[in-house]
Amino acid sequence: MSAPAPLLRIDQIEVAYHRVITALQGVSVDVHAGTIVAILGTNGAGKTTTLRAVSGFIGLDDARVTSGRIVFEGEAIENQPPHRITTRGIVLVPERDKVFPNLTVAENLEATVTRPGSDRRGLIDAVWELFPALTRLKRRTAGLLSGGERQMLAIGSALVCGPRLLLVDALSQGLAPRIVDDIAERLRQVRDRMGVSVLLGEQNAELALSMADHGYSWRTVALYWTARPRVCVSMPTCRSFIWAARANDAAIARSNSIGAAAGGLDDAVSCASG
Ligand SMILES: Nc1ncnc2c1ncn2[C@@H]1O[C@H](COP(=O)(O)OP(=O)(O)O)[C@@H](O)[C@H]1O
Ligand SMILES: [Mg+2]
Repeated sequence: MSAPAPLLRIDQIEVAYHRVITALQGVSVDVHAGTIVAILGTNGAGKTTTLRAVSGFIGLDDARVTSGRIVFEGEAIENQPPHRITTRGIVLVPERDKVFPNLTVAENLEATVTRPGSDRRGLIDAVWELFPALTRLKRRTAGLLSGGERQMLAIGSALVCGPRLLLVDALSQGLAPRIVDDIAERLRQVRDRMGVSVLLGEQNAELALSMADHGYSWRTVALYWTARPRVCVSMPTCRSFIWAARANDAAIARSNSIGAAAGGLDDAVSCASG
């Protein structure tokens, strides 16, 4: 029996800003339904560009997918405007400008447009249940929230859209480890209870690999040196890890078990350092 087609397939995309600056080349990522997938990389690796390419927001940054394909549920979606992509069920939690700062928490959820066919009331109730901390802050102006509360509200607002695939950029950025662990657990519940798939762009390798079913990274030797000692113990869920260079090199390590995945990283590290 052949494997089911992925929900999302990013296939060898190239992205250029302002028609001249190539930010990504040869990037391929698959996200299967019901999984959390992590893209790892240090600053400038292309995580945000990848997530904004999938969500269509690169158009607002004067960037385009100049080659390759992005296929969602069997249909090509590259270079479509964000509202069309959101309507298909792909919703971005951006790195910046996550919430409407002048609206209250409750108003932020109310201001979110729900996809046709989704149960808006049910989604809002699910968000209150998922984030009890937000329920206690319903009337708080979003601009006064802490970083963690703001991240929860951003994820909550994205869920009110009724996504099939949630794109979360820089989940842990600027947040205390305890808060990050809590939000990570909520995202697992989003996958398990709401059936929403998640694609993370994340600098914190330990966090990403502790959450993800599958991981991808671009060549960033320093990241591996810091991540490697912990990878073996912090990959309870990661079934495969694909280490690929940023610029179209073949994947170097691909494996299907935790032990082999850690071994694959060893190979990647020795390959990159030697
Ligand atoms: N608006 C922009 N204009 C030109 N280049 C950009 C722009 N945004 C990002 N880039 C470039 O694209 C590359 C990838 O950046 P980015 O996707 O932000 O990486 P990450 O999110 O992994 O830190 C970097 O070289 C960055 O300088
Ligand atoms: Mg980024």
